[in-house]
Amino acid sequence: MPASVGSHLVTQRFGDEKARTLAGYEATGGYSVLRKALSMRPEDITNEVKASNLRGRGGAGFATGVKWGFVPKDAKEVHLVCNADESEPGTCKDRLLIWWDPHLLIEGMIIAAHALKAKHNYIYIRGEMMREYQVLDAAVKEAYARGYLGDNVLGTGIAVHLTVHRGAGAYICGEETALLNSLEGLRGQPRLKPPFPAVKGLFGNPTIVNNVETLMNVPFIVDKGGAWFNELGMGRSGGTRIVCVSGHVNKPGVFELPMGITFTQIINDICGGVWKGRKAKAVIPGGVSMPPLDASELDVPCEFDALQTDERIKPVMVRPGQQFDLGGGRALRTMAGSGGIVVMDDQTDIPRALWRILKFFAHESCGQCTPCREGTGWLEKVARRVGHGEGKEGDIDLMASIAHGIAGNTICALGDAAAWPTLGFLTKFREDFEAAIKRRAA
Ligand SMILES: Cc1cc2nc3c(=O)[nH]c(=O)nc-3n(C[C@H](O)[C@H](O)[C@H](O)COP(=O)(O)O)c2cc1C
Ligand code: SF4
Repeated sequence: MPASVGSHLVTQRFGDEKARTLAGYEATGGYSVLRKALSMRPEDITNEVKASNLRGRGGAGFATGVKWGFVPKDAKEVHLVCNADESEPGTCKDRLLIWWDPHLLIEGMIIAAHALKAKHNYIYIRGEMMREYQVLDAAVKEAYARGYLGDNVLGTGIAVHLTVHRGAGAYICGEETALLNSLEGLRGQPRLKPPFPAVKGLFGNPTIVNNVETLMNVPFIVDKGGAWFNELGMGRSGGTRIVCVSGHVNKPGVFELPMGITFTQIINDICGGVWKGRKAKAVIPGGVSMPPLDASELDVPCEFDALQTDERIKPVMVRPGQQFDLGGGRALRTMAGSGGIVVMDDQTDIPRALWRILKFFAHESCGQCTPCREGTGWLEKVARRVGHGEGKEGDIDLMASIAHGIAGNTICALGDAAAWPTLGFLTKFREDFEAAIKRRAA
């Protein structure tokens, strides 16, 4: 049965201060699924995760069980790395998940590590999240002391170790290969892929990188079965979804919701409507890396495939009449990303908003490849002048052409993350940019 509003899996212990401790977690059923998982064969756990249609909650929405299946069977050493770097503007769920329920993440990681036969595992947590780090560090120590972690987990002979590592606050270190470089003590710059981390990752060993929310769903899948989890969701996306709603709504917040809920329902029923009695003009559906939706596109579900393919969402254009091609003739619409929904009301200065987004990407580009290093800076410069009433004729086409030059031509997806929203805003709010440029001419 699909989940309904109020079905809580990963947020069910939110607000329960006691659940943060091992005793409190165990008192609410914590670590009971681990015992079941340890009695299962690793490949059976992976098969349940495949059947669950759990998709990565870190941004790309890749099928988790399929990714686990890429680890070579004869690998001598495998690692599991939890990506808790959470830096995408608009996204603030992982820090709350860790704050309220650190042991659920640890239990999910031990189960996943058993499935992957991964002995030395890591949580890479964003450096600024100090209090969450302290909570996690304390929980890991408790789990070691109780025998859930160590060389002989609960007397089964299975070894699972977990190290919590703090990053230093660079957005790019959330990109999985930059994260692995940073963990190895190298400069946090993305690696060329392939090879993908599942084949050659941390210290050259096969490595699975998964987001916090992704891993926290694993105990529920092992407990109740992949089929049950899949049915909670919609289409090829199992389970529930956490969204972080910010911007111009009456009640912003972090909510665990059914996959099939639409943006209109999220804004009106969950968040009390757009503030000050205004209307929504633009909605960023999954962190600022994603092309926005306009007011006519909000009846689409927040589910992964719907956002990529629903024909109610207009395709993003490179220039008027020329769709951005994702390959194979598939038009770029938008993506569910990391669940960061930013609502902008009908008085929002869209060119200014795009400039602010581009300022972020220009600042966070690691500088390794030319289209991104030069292009994000150039985009920010042109967007700044348009947003500040100093735009020139031709600036819209100039921005579109720079963005097109970046997209698909870089080592990692940060380049796309700057180019796609640029093309999306220019496609759907072209008249706002034209008006901003005309204001100068007047
Ligand atoms: C620039 C950039 C930043 C990213 N930041 C994060 C992040 O903070 N947290 C995260 O989980 N994934 C982030 N990702 C996605 C990761 O590279 C990776 O796909 C993800 O951690 C895989 O986990 P999942 O399959 O569970 O989603 C980022 C990707 C890019 C390109
Ligand atoms: S796309 Fe940007 S952030 Fe990614 S590797 Fe290239 S320069 Fe670095």
